[in-house]
Amino acid sequence: MRATFAKINIDNLYTNYKALREIVGKAKVIGVVKSNAYGHGLIEVSRYLQEFGIDYLAVAFVNEGIELRRAGIEVPILVLVPENDLSIEASVEYNLDYAVENYEVAKKISDYAKANSKRARIHFYVDTGMGRDGMPYNNAAEIIKECMKLPNLDFVGLMSHFASSESDGTYTKHQLDIFKKVISDLKDERIEFELVHIANTGAIANFPESIFDGVRPGIALYGYVRNGNSFDMRFKPVMEVHSKVISLRKVLPGESVGYGRAFIATHTTTIATVPIGYGDGLKRILSDALFCLIRGRRYKVVGGICMDEIMVDVGMDGIKIGDEVVLLGQQENETITGWELARKSNTIVYEILTSISNRVPRIYVRNGQ
Ligand SMILES: Cc1ncc(COP(=O)(O)O)c(C=O)c1O
Repeated sequence: MRATFAKINIDNLYTNYKALREIVGKAKVIGVVKSNAYGHGLIEVSRYLQEFGIDYLAVAFVNEGIELRRAGIEVPILVLVPENDLSIEASVEYNLDYAVENYEVAKKISDYAKANSKRARIHFYVDTGMGRDGMPYNNAAEIIKECMKLPNLDFVGLMSHFASSESDGTYTKHQLDIFKKVISDLKDERIEFELVHIANTGAIANFPESIFDGVRPGIALYGYVRNGNSFDMRFKPVMEVHSKVISLRKVLPGESVGYGRAFIATHTTTIATVPIGYGDGLKRILSDALFCLIRGRRYKVVGGICMDEIMVDVGMDGIKIGDEVVLLGQQENETITGWELARKSNTIVYEILTSISNRVPRIYVRNGQ
């Protein structure tokens, strides 16, 4: 067992799920668990969400959906990124809902389902301004009508995705208006879907009018929600990253620490070595800005982030080998949040969480155990 581990707090996952449920009312919650459940563990997190009663899960790729089915997950699973022919066949075999963005893909799914006497569930994906996936909104109705002539398909959903629901109200409103127009054009043709969904976390927090029959939160489940410029305190971060001090050494003025002698002591101090590095997902760009918590106090990482270890200037505070080190999370009254690490490494909290590598064991803690 490594000294370093990611503690995944299932009580907080539940708190976040419950908060979402309250906010979205009757809308179905499609929990986004792509990319290893944002670093928290695809199968374990999905099992807990299924136990909590989540309506749906969403993954990016078919192979993630297959992993979930093989692990016994039974709730509907939506595949968000349309990939290739092979993934289409597997999506039908494993009963995964597919996000369809053109007639050709719908036809391939239909052909495969028909040839194998199966039915396949699809959601029509409309590009309302993200410019990444989905059919062009201006002829979405025509494409959808054509697709709906195909056999062996269940037309479950209509969906789109926001580009900047956290930060740009005007553009989000513009996308929402486009989506509503597509919905009403289809309604004129008497085409309706049981599950219309567009809202991700930012939209759920900032645009309640974008909550239709379903919502697709990802980062909210893991505890990070921003309302405008403030944080929504109902949501609790699920992941903490812990390690331990494994050695201590005294350095004298002029002595150095780390590759390239990145740190040169100006006074006598103590350096604690902690076995976590960029191989575990600690971003090297943080080398000059990373702090950790030991005995409830913040200490600076010095000498650069190595692949497997960091060195921490712990001064003369009497830190001991075996003391707990927190890289992400709370210790006594001090906290290091994903927001802090994201800001300091010029990225987003999503990347901080998904970067925690597979080498770091995930420990699932429930009811404090
Ligand atoms: C298509 C789609 N829907 C929903 C989400 C969830 O977004 P968030 O984590 O911001 O809630 C994502 C994540 O990037 C996505 O790509």
